[in-house]
Amino acid sequence: MDKAEKTGLTLALIMLLTFFSLIVYAAKGLKIDVPTCVTDVEPFQEGKLIKHGDKRYELHILARMWFFDFNKGATEIKIPAGSTVDIFVTSKDVVHGVHINNTNFNVMAIPGTVGYMRVKFEKPGEYHVVCHEFCGVGHHAMQGKIIVE
Ligand code: CUA
Repeated sequence: MDKAEKTGLTLALIMLLTFFSLIVYAAKGLKIDVPTCVTDVEPFQEGKLIKHGDKRYELHILARMWFFDFNKGATEIKIPAGSTVDIFVTSKDVVHGVHINNTNFNVMAIPGTVGYMRVKFEKPGEYHVVCHEFCGVGHHAMQGKIIVE
């Protein structure tokens, strides 16, 4: 093996190790979660905000033409800052998309399936929720709000 080959292989090995270390750091250190559509929650027909404890919530978002039902028809909810929320998403009619501004929550709402991701709302403020999948004539107006106080 000549010198250039050795250098190339060493650099490739360093890059691979860096890459895998960053994946482990993102998952464990930054606690970045990956959305999943394999949950034990059955598809639901109503939005629901369930309090499990101090700053622990479970939110069932029902996307439908053309609004988000966060809690028994409400398009706005309030939670305290520092809350950890397990968010489940499904759709009542067509395919929608759910993006929560200023978070990395970006999950498709597909009829018959439930998407899931956990979000920790550290900073107080208004988190706008928008639909990012064209779903019909009311798509542009499909939005909601999570108020963190
Ligand atoms: Cu719902 Cu676009």
